[in-house]
Amino acid sequence: MAEAFTLFLLTGMLLCGLLLHTMSQHGARGDNGSKRPNFIIILADDIGWGDLDANRPEEKTNNTPYLNLMAELTDFHSPASTCSPSRAAILTGRYGLRNGVTHNFAVGSVAGLPVSEVTLPQLLQKAGYYTAMIGKWHLGHNGPYGPANRGFDYYLGIPYSNDMGCTDIPGYNLPQCLPYKCCSRSAHEGCYSKVGLPLIENSSIVEQPLNLWTLTEQYKSAATRIIHKARYNTRGKPYLLYIALAHMHVPLAPPLPPGAPAAAHHPNDGRVYSASLREMDGLVGAVKSASDDTDKNNTLIWFTGDNGPWEKKCQYAGSVGPFMGKWQTSRGGGSAKRTTWEGGHRVPTVAYWPGRIPANSTNSALLSGMDIFPTLLSLAGETPPSDRRYDGIDATNTLLRGEQTGHEFLFHPNSGAAGEFGDLQTVRTGKYKAFYITGTSAAESCGGATGRQELHDTPLIFDLERDEAEETPLEVGTPEYQAVVERIARRREELLWDIATDTSASAADYSTDESAAPCCDPGQAVCRCHPRGQRDGN
Ligand SMILES: *[C@@H]1O[C@H](CO)[C@@H](O)[C@H](O)[C@H]1NC(C)=O
Ligand SMILES: *[C@@H]1O[C@H](CO)[C@@H](O)[C@H](O)[C@H]1NC(C)=O
Ligand SMILES: *[C@@H]1O[C@H](CO)[C@@H](O)[C@H](O)[C@H]1NC(C)=O
Ligand SMILES: *[C@@H]1O[C@H](CO)[C@@H](O)[C@H](O)[C@H]1NC(C)=O
Repeated sequence: MAEAFTLFLLTGMLLCGLLLHTMSQHGARGDNGSKRPNFIIILADDIGWGDLDANRPEEKTNNTPYLNLMAELTDFHSPASTCSPSRAAILTGRYGLRNGVTHNFAVGSVAGLPVSEVTLPQLLQKAGYYTAMIGKWHLGHNGPYGPANRGFDYYLGIPYSNDMGCTDIPGYNLPQCLPYKCCSRSAHEGCYSKVGLPLIENSSIVEQPLNLWTLTEQYKSAATRIIHKARYNTRGKPYLLYIALAHMHVPLAPPLPPGAPAAAHHPNDGRVYSASLREMDGLVGAVKSASDDTDKNNTLIWFTGDNGPWEKKCQYAGSVGPFMGKWQTSRGGGSAKRTTWEGGHRVPTVAYWPGRIPANSTNSALLSGMDIFPTLLSLAGETPPSDRRYDGIDATNTLLRGEQTGHEFLFHPNSGAAGEFGDLQTVRTGKYKAFYITGTSAAESCGGATGRQELHDTPLIFDLERDEAEETPLEVGTPEYQAVVERIARRREELLWDIATDTSASAADYSTDESAAPCCDPGQAVCRCHPRGQRDGN
């Protein structure tokens, strides 16, 4: 008895010692000799640069009080102007021409982000992080392409955009979908009615169609639960939490004034959008306070957007602020989402890390969502695999030490213009920005006009310092123009050659098949089912 007890005690002590050893080993790595930080990445959908109160002080809005208190990166760009390519580049640190994802996946996509690509959560997971994701994935939902197989220990969210499936009570959208037409077998204009919008946990559908109006609360409680549980000291692991919000993508489903029935309430002004912004900010606030309550000073929160506002949704779209793309809008085209005008990819971006990043500071270094990948790895003390080439840069010194160095050249891939998707047709260097192509292949403006596609062999070059609205290009042939165009052309040639010879570049399979759509119960209209036994208010 006594012997067995001693053995038990010894084994216990040994295990304990081993555990402590592993923990201190992990804890010893990282940026400056302290324990490795937690990361919370919050990615808003279709948010405008001007949606942040701090970016439109003259309008005295108070929609984003929590975001206003974080440090701002004012010249930060989404890696693409549409959803899937932007998310793929964030998670791989590579342009779409390398990672293979150059346009959006569909409900019936059979594949997704090529499995030959290595994702940030995969690397952090391998390095001992607990990794969780909440929200919109949009990088392929079938089998090996789902988030649970791409590096996340836990997942809760929608496999693609919140307008790619019907719900019983529709949110605000243009054109507006009528509630009694939604999620029925009959098709209806403006109303996606074939398949219910699924909510997925890990790799299983837990609700179809999901309830749009309670989604924010579900995300909020999952996020705060994960933060509390994944607390460094109890789980013994730092964590990565990637929250890809449904906000501000239509359909919007903000809290309604008391008593207002959802369907009867369609104000034709900005109130719905503002209410959604405030709801989103509240979600960020809840995440921030959960993090402050648990591992304050050891958690980096990084908030950014996947692309600019979806202008053609008019009053349900965000604001580009001063980045109006006037050269294009004066010709009738859109200048936000799906375009490489500033409104398409300059996204509101803030960071929060008490004790490490000074609050209320701003930094105007030229940065990209692709930089999240190398920066987080660097802060975790990890090096990215050397068998591939990357386009993101390590922004640690910009974030933590206020350095103003960013990309010398940043390319904005084509997400909706003529030619090939993913082509690097717009280039930024310093205060200059050059366009080799303008216009879009479809209507992207609020009025529905399409900007005619134009190729510019002699690129249009704007000086963003003098002309943030991109209205009047530099005069061709001036010494200023000549100097910029030569630099840009040389770098563009080099990069295109580098990509053409990149043996680690992947190609994505964009084929679709109706049977690839997530379907909980094929016997029911819109695949309806509720395996968790939850009611959705019907
Ligand atoms: C690590 O960071 C802490 C907190 O910011 C600071 O006080 C300390 O000097 C840093 N240590 C090193 C070795 O840089
Ligand atoms: C998802 O995984 C977590 C553990 O990581 C588990 O607790 C949960 O029950 C799983 N959910 C489903 C629907 O399988
Ligand atoms: C966090 O850091 C700040 C500033 O360095 C310090 O005043 C505060 O006590 C720290 N809080 C915790 C919980 O460690
Ligand atoms: C940041 O600025 C806001 C508004 O100007 C102010 O209320 C707040 O106290 C400031 N926070 C810090 C940490 O300086």
